[in-house]
Amino acid sequence: MFLAGTDPPAMTMEWAMAELIKNPKSMRKAQEEVRRVAKDKGKVEDDDLQYLPYLHNVLKETLRLHPPGPLLLPHECIIDTKINGYDILTKTRVFINAWAIGRDAKFWSEEPEAFRPERFERKMRDVEFKGRHFELIPFGAGRRICPGMMLGVVTVELALANVLNGFDWELPCGMRCEEMDMSEGFRMVSHKKVPLTVVAIPAAGFT
Ligand code: HEM
Repeated sequence: MFLAGTDPPAMTMEWAMAELIKNPKSMRKAQEEVRRVAKDKGKVEDDDLQYLPYLHNVLKETLRLHPPGPLLLPHECIIDTKINGYDILTKTRVFINAWAIGRDAKFWSEEPEAFRPERFERKMRDVEFKGRHFELIPFGAGRRICPGMMLGVVTVELALANVLNGFDWELPCGMRCEEMDMSEGFRMVSHKKVPLTVVAIPAAGFT
């Protein structure tokens, strides 16, 4: 419970920041949205999250490209089943490749490898990660779906919103965003192989 509740949100936060820094247009758009909502209070609270649709799309796009559990957890087939002509026998251990599904051009026809939160404003608008749309399953689906999903989503969105509100972000030592190493290190959870190092600059007027 502790591992499942801490590692995936932390990894998602790091990937979201890495993608936003690599994609300055998305960073600007997310910061403008967050700062518009936080303007009078100087911070974002959980009630404000409903007014941050772009930030939510940033989270969806991050989880599509970088699901913290790329193969979910191992499942066991409880009844003989046929999938695409293959016999899957009872007791077979099944791994579901959520990472590959999230990049499959059959579902994600518009530049599947690119970070484009805007895709969720267009064709993929109705696609959510709550287990009903099998093309986006970073939390799994069905009875074994992540029980901490809502907590995880709020935790990441709230933290992300506040660091985007309070700071501008840049890479250290004049590094350019094209030079960022976005490789994934693979364990059961997929973390960023090279940890993200960035410089936080307090935003104008932020105390
Ligand atoms: C961004 C945040 C998170 C992501 C992406 C995530 C993802 C996942 C995934 C993919 C699974 C396996 C589902 C399957 O195999 O079908 C899982 C299981 C689980 N998650 Fe999460 N999780 C997150 C946050 C959390 C949080 C905050 C908690 C608890 C406080 C939590 C608790 C658990 C537990 C206990 C399981 C095992 C459920 C079981 O075995 O049936 N997760 N999570």
